[in-house]
Amino acid sequence: MKDMNFLKENNARHLWHPMAHPADCQANPPDIIVGGEGCRITDVDGHTTIDGVGGLWNVNLGYSCQPVKDAITEQLERLPYYSIFRGTTNDAAIELSWMLRQFFAEDGMGRAFYTSGGGDSVEIALRLARQYHKVRGEAGRVKYLSLKKGYHGTHTLGASVNGNANFRTQYEPLMPGCYHIPAPYTYRNPFNETDPEKLAQLCLAALEDEIKFQSADTIAAFIMEPVLGAGGVIPPHESFMPGVREICDRYGILLIADEVITGFGRTGDWSGSRHWGVKPDMMTTAKAITNGYFPFGAVMISDAVAEVFESDTSGRAAIGSGYTYSGHPVGAAAAIACLKETERLQVKDNAAARGAQIFAGLQALKEKYDLIGDVRGGHGMMSAMELVSDRATKAPIDKDTISRVQRTAYESGAMVRMSGNNLILSPPLILSEAETDTILSALDAGFAAVS
Ligand SMILES: Cc1ncc(COP(=O)(O)O)c(C=O)c1O
Repeated sequence: MKDMNFLKENNARHLWHPMAHPADCQANPPDIIVGGEGCRITDVDGHTTIDGVGGLWNVNLGYSCQPVKDAITEQLERLPYYSIFRGTTNDAAIELSWMLRQFFAEDGMGRAFYTSGGGDSVEIALRLARQYHKVRGEAGRVKYLSLKKGYHGTHTLGASVNGNANFRTQYEPLMPGCYHIPAPYTYRNPFNETDPEKLAQLCLAALEDEIKFQSADTIAAFIMEPVLGAGGVIPPHESFMPGVREICDRYGILLIADEVITGFGRTGDWSGSRHWGVKPDMMTTAKAITNGYFPFGAVMISDAVAEVFESDTSGRAAIGSGYTYSGHPVGAAAAIACLKETERLQVKDNAAARGAQIFAGLQALKEKYDLIGDVRGGHGMMSAMELVSDRATKAPIDKDTISRVQRTAYESGAMVRMSGNNLILSPPLILSEAETDTILSALDAGFAAVS
């Protein structure tokens, strides 16, 4: 590793960071993280904190997961790459597909399609949805529906179903044929409804209204996160996703659950869809599938959808999608080891317990500090605080104040993530009770510093 002076001098000078303004990065260089152990990370100055971000919602098993590291090393030695495009495959890809099928059996998933990450998984699922209808002879079903506030990555198709202006506006025009429904977001919604169950019904009515307006026979799929993540952690009422399932069934529309964050235990269940008792038609996964140690993803496909493709005799079901790194043996080996550890540790249970502890702690902070306008969470290790300068008008807090909260929390022992006026928490699922308390007290210090 280069020395500290070199790293600081060159920090953000020759690279542009995702989701950041290049000039801002040069003026306020990012923290340089050089080490990770357990649930903690260490920066270039030797300052160690608990990682309340969990990498980027992906390091579910922490930074010291030896079985995944070993699996990567062994696979690199034995077979560092081989393609699974038509005609060849590799042993790790086969074994992982068998494991994923078992893991997601309760969700009705029978097939995997490998990708290099979450955005790729979304892209593949949306493409397969159109193809599914073409194979079935309904070629007119080409449109997509999704939720405002939803996040589905930044490929152009994913950005088109994305529900946040900051990932869209500078890249318009996006794909035609993508329409958005109000999210079941009680703090701010066009219906001025604060009751989660009533709001869920209003959003479902809006969905059905849009389907009728567009005409169901033009719509391929509805995509949603079971708990909205990057848009500010928005857990819908428990009636929402089952309601979406019912409407999609009634109108012949495929339901794609974007499980890139919610898959593998984060909600307190093995999938976000299972958390709500819903079986989607496809699930997009990535992130924690390898504990973030190798870029990898998988689209899971239900038995019913698979049957349509596999019984096709017209040739239309030949899959014209895929990536050089689809089924990468090192990623597949990492995922095999990661799934074994995920199940051995039953991390979903700790996610539920620590998630409840975090949620209660954040609510206590809200009692104490007026600038916390809304606290969201309560479904595993996904929580957020929405910061406002005035609780009555809900005016978002200024950037400088939220930065100061985040900085003081960091200095007090916890890395937390700022996203607009939200502070988001998504720690590793192996977090201990004491580490959870440290995150909460670091946040307390952060808020005290600006109050
Ligand atoms: C729900 C969801 N879908 C898709 C993506 C995109 O994944 P990636 O950044 O791996 O392309 C993300 C990333 O955070 C996500 O949260």
